[in-house]
Amino acid sequence: MTTAVIGTGGVGSVIARHLASGGETLRLSSADSKSARTLAAKIGPTAVAAVDNRDALQGADAVVLALRFGVLKSVIDEIADSLTDRLVVVPSNPVSLDAQGNVVRILPKGQSSGEVVAGWLPAGARVAMAFGSMSAALFESSSNRSPDLAVLFYATDDDRAGEEVEQLIRTAGFEPVKVGGLDQSGRLDVGGDLHDRVVGTAEARSLIGGA
Ligand SMILES: NC(=O)c1ccc[n+]([C@@H]2O[C@H](COP(=O)([O-])OP(=O)(O)OC[C@H]3O[C@@H](n4cnc5c(N)ncnc54)[C@H](OP(=O)(O)O)[C@@H]3O)[C@@H](O)[C@H]2O)c1
Repeated sequence: MTTAVIGTGGVGSVIARHLASGGETLRLSSADSKSARTLAAKIGPTAVAAVDNRDALQGADAVVLALRFGVLKSVIDEIADSLTDRLVVVPSNPVSLDAQGNVVRILPKGQSSGEVVAGWLPAGARVAMAFGSMSAALFESSSNRSPDLAVLFYATDDDRAGEEVEQLIRTAGFEPVKVGGLDQSGRLDVGGDLHDRVVGTAEARSLIGGA
């Protein structure tokens, strides 16, 4: 399978490396293309740097938008016609830094990141919020945990997107567990009760039920 990863910074680079380790072929894209080219060279022949974001989607079965929340909509608008009938995976957390360097939520209370992103996507795109529920360092070190795989939570309203993202999560070396629909994606974000939780399946299921 081939996945496009748009955004090859802190979290996008780890997603790409985990997927490549699991056998996924990758098409990478970044703002100035340098970081995508550098990452593709490190991963090897199964990853290529695309010319631009639209080119990244050529022949891709799915796309991961590993972008800061503030640039997500503009990139979605740029590639919208290529997103119809495709899995769109979004690890973005709705946060930014204030003048003091503190992490602040940029969506009003009660508005979920998943529902906002879904509203930006064209009809026919299948969205799942996933791969953003841990800090990049924790995500990096938790792949292919032994003896039991660590869980990666995801949220989606779409059954087919659920099946597809579960496959990608397994490829990345984690056990997928659905937290619920897109209205539940805030539980995965920074500040959510499931963020940075590295747990096995049984504990994951009890955490979901216990909210
Ligand atoms: N880092 C983490 O620990 C972590 C963990 C969980 C979730 N997240 C979430 O993941 C998202 C990305 O975070 P990050 O830490 O990976 O950010 P980052 O290190 O700043 O990386 C952002 C990436 O987006 C690329 N980019 C920016 N504008 C673009 C455009 N118009 N077209 C294509 N690529 C573009 C940048 O390209 P260049 O490389 O060329 O600048 C960079 O590769 C955020 O929403 C964050 O909340 C991050």
